[in-house]
Amino acid sequence: MKGPRRGVFERMFRSALSLAMIAASVACGDPGGAPPAASAGTSAAVTASSAPGSPDAPPRAAELRAPLTAGVVSRIPGTETVVVADEDHRALHIAMDARRAATQDAFTTIELPGAPAQAAAWGDTVLVTIRDPGLLLRLRLEGGSAKEVGRVALPADAWGLAVTRDQKRAVVTSAWTHKATIFDLEKLAAVATVDVGREPRGVTLSSDGSTAWISHLVGAKLTKLSDLSGAPVASTVLLPPSPLRAPSGRTLEASLGYALALSPDDTRLYVARHALGAMGREAWFGAATVDVLRPKTGDAIAPLHQGNAMVYRSAVAKELDTPDTKAGLPAEPLSPFTQPRDVRYRASQRSLLVVGEGDNVLTELDAQALDPTIAVLRTFALGRDTDPNLGGARTCGAPSGLALSEDENTAYVFCRATYDFVRVDLAGDPYVAKPDAAAYVRLGEDPVSAEVGVGRRLFYDATDKITSGGLGCAGCHPEGRDDGFVWHEASFDTPDGGTRTNFVGTYENVPDLAKTKGVARRTVMLAGRVRAEGPYGWRAESPTLAERIGAGMGLHRWGGLPKHAPENVAARAGYMAQFIRQGLVTPPRAASALSPEAERGKQVFESKEAACATCHRPDTDFSDRVAYPLKALPSRKDFEDEPKAAFKTPSLLFLEGRAPYFHDGSAPSLERLVEANQDRMGKTSHLSADERAALVAYLRTL
Ligand code: HEC
Ligand code: HEC
Repeated sequence: MKGPRRGVFERMFRSALSLAMIAASVACGDPGGAPPAASAGTSAAVTASSAPGSPDAPPRAAELRAPLTAGVVSRIPGTETVVVADEDHRALHIAMDARRAATQDAFTTIELPGAPAQAAAWGDTVLVTIRDPGLLLRLRLEGGSAKEVGRVALPADAWGLAVTRDQKRAVVTSAWTHKATIFDLEKLAAVATVDVGREPRGVTLSSDGSTAWISHLVGAKLTKLSDLSGAPVASTVLLPPSPLRAPSGRTLEASLGYALALSPDDTRLYVARHALGAMGREAWFGAATVDVLRPKTGDAIAPLHQGNAMVYRSAVAKELDTPDTKAGLPAEPLSPFTQPRDVRYRASQRSLLVVGEGDNVLTELDAQALDPTIAVLRTFALGRDTDPNLGGARTCGAPSGLALSEDENTAYVFCRATYDFVRVDLAGDPYVAKPDAAAYVRLGEDPVSAEVGVGRRLFYDATDKITSGGLGCAGCHPEGRDDGFVWHEASFDTPDGGTRTNFVGTYENVPDLAKTKGVARRTVMLAGRVRAEGPYGWRAESPTLAERIGAGMGLHRWGGLPKHAPENVAARAGYMAQFIRQGLVTPPRAASALSPEAERGKQVFESKEAACATCHRPDTDFSDRVAYPLKALPSRKDFEDEPKAAFKTPSLLFLEGRAPYFHDGSAPSLERLVEANQDRMGKTSHLSADERAALVAYLRTL
C-alpha cells in the first residue's frame, strides 16, 4: 500500500496531478486561495539568493548558504562530520566522515548530562539541547571527540534549536514548560524567555535571523516570534491542516508538529504533522500532511475546502477502484508517511524530505506543490528485518531525524526505536527505494532491557497489522504524552449485522457515523501515570494495563481488529505495557517546595468539606480508580450524549501540562474546571475566590 513508488510514468502522473490540484483549488474560488502563479512558484523560488543563470535553474545548495539546521542529526557545513543526539542513551554520537561511516567504530560517543533532543553544529562547535535538567550545552570538537566548554540553564524540557546564519543568536523551545528562549551565543547567555502555547517543538529562523517560527505537538497554531534582536514579540498564526481534505468549510485540528522548514528564500514555510480528521477513504484518524504557509503574509498557500469539490466521502469512494476525489486526485497515498518526525528542504531539487516515525520511511515531496503530500516524488523504505512473530521493523524503527550531505545527495538518518544510523543514497537510481544492508550502523541496544526494546519499537510502529490500524501508539500518545485531542468513539452497525467501535477524527469521515457522531474521548497521557495495577480506560473497563492496550488495538483503527489469535494481541500488549512503565520518560517537575498559596490549596484539597482527596487519593497517584456516575456534563457540539455517564477518577499527576480536562476535554483550563465545578465533584461552592485560586495553584504542582 505504501510501498516505494517507481517509474518515470508515475512521477509524471503525479506532477500532472499536482497541477490538476492547483487548478481545481483555484477553480473552487476561495478568496483566500493562492493565485496560480505563486502556487506553481517555480520562477519565484530564488529571489533572495545570488543563484546565477536563468531564474528557472535550480539553485545549488552552497550558493544558497542554507541556514544551520539543527535536529536529532546535524551536519557541520563544509564537511561530512555528523552528530547524532541519542535521547535514550543520553549521548551524542559523532562521525567525522559520515559518508564512510560503515561500522560503529566510525563513531565516537560522548556521554551528556541528560537526554539530548537536538544538536546544531558548525566549525568546531556543537550546541545541544538537554531536556531535563533544561540546558543548552556548548561543546568543542577536538580530534574526533568533543568536550563541554559551556552551559546555560533553560526552562526544563529544552527541545528544539535554531541558530542564525551568522551564529550570533539561537532560539530554543522548551516543550513541557511551553517556553521559547532567545540566546546571545557570543555571550552564551539567554536574552529573553517568552511564554508560548502547549508543547512547542520545531523551530526555524528566517534567513535574516529576525523571525522565528515554532511548531507545536498539540494544535494547529504556529507561534511566530518577531524582532528577535530587539524586544521579541510572540504571536500565533493559524495554519489550517490539510485544508483541501478538511470537511467543507471547517478547519481541522493538528498534532505531531515536531518539525518545520523554510525554503532558503523565505517564501514558504513547511510544517509536517497530522491533520486530525482529514477526509479520505478509511482515513479514520485523518492524514499526514505538510502544510505550507507564506511567511510574509501569514496565510496558507492552499485554500480551504468548500462544497464537495475535492473529497468524496469514503462510502462513495469505496465503490470506485482508486480515486477518493471528484477531481480524480489520487486516493493513494493519502498519507505518504505516518507520524512525521523531521523535515528538510533539499534546495538542489526544490523538494522536501520527511521521515515518518510510524512507517519507517523517508519520503521526498515536491516542495513547489500546493499540497506536497500529493506530489510524492519517491519513498525510501528504511525499516528492515520485520519481526515475524511480533511485527515491526527490527532495524531502523522510528526514524526521528535526518540531515543532508554537503552535496545533498546523501541523507543521514537516525532511527530512535532501534538506534540505527542509515546513509540513504539520494543520487543513485531515483527509483531504487530501499537502502542495502551495508548502509546501516547500529549505535546501541535498548538502554532498559531487550523486552522493553520490543515494546518500544511496537509503541512507535504503525506497520504491524495487529498492533495498529495504520497509526502507532506514539501517533496519539507522542512520547507517552497526549495529542490534546478529543476523539469520536463511535459504535455503529456493520453490513454483516455486527457492531463495531471505532475512533475517528471527525465524524464526517465515515458516512455511517454522520448519524451518530460518536462520544467524546480525550487522549490520556501515559508517561508516569500507569504505575497502578488497574483498572484502566476512562470507564475503568479494563482490569489491567495490558488488557487496556489489547482493547485499544481494536479501537484505534478502521474496521476493528482482524481475527487474530488472542495470544498475538496479548504478547504485544505485554511488551508495550513494560515499555510504557519502564521506558517512557516522565516530564520534568519543579523540585522546589510548595509556595504558601499552593500549601493553602493543598489544605483545601485534603479538607473534609471539599473532599477532593477522597477520590483523588494522594497515596495512589491521586486516583482511587473507581468509576463514578457524576452529574452529566452538557454534551459537546459535534458529539453524541453519553449513554452512561460513569467515569474513572483520573490520576491528577502532571495535570498542568495536559489541558483540556475531563473525558470529553470540556474543561479548557484548571481555573475554568474549578470555577464550573460547584458541587459536582466534592464541593467547591463554598470556596472564596482566593481559596479557588489556591486550589488551582496546588493542582498545578501535582
Ligand atoms: C487514535 C489515537 C490513539 C491511539 C493510536 C492509541 N491511543 Fe491509547 N488512548 C487514546 C484515547 C482517546 C484514550 C482514552 C480512551 C478511553 O480510555 O476510553 C486512550 C487510552 C489509553 C490507555 C488507558 C490509560 C488510562 O489511564 O486509563 C492506555 C494504557 C493506552 N491508551 C495505551 C495505548 C497504546 C499502548 C497504544 C498503541 C497500541 C495506543 N494507546 C494507541 C487514543 C489513542
Ligand atoms: C466522587 C469522586 C470525586 C471527587 C470527590 C472529586 N473528583 Fe475530581 N474527578 C472525578 C472523576 C470521576 C473525574 C472524571 C470526570 C470526567 O472526566 O467526566 C474527575 C476529574 C477531575 C479532574 C480532571 C482530570 C483530568 O485528567 O481530566 C480534576 C482536575 C479534578 N477531578 C479535580 C478535583 C478536585 C479539585 C476535587 C475537589 C474539589 C475533586 N476532583 C473531587 C472524581 C472525583
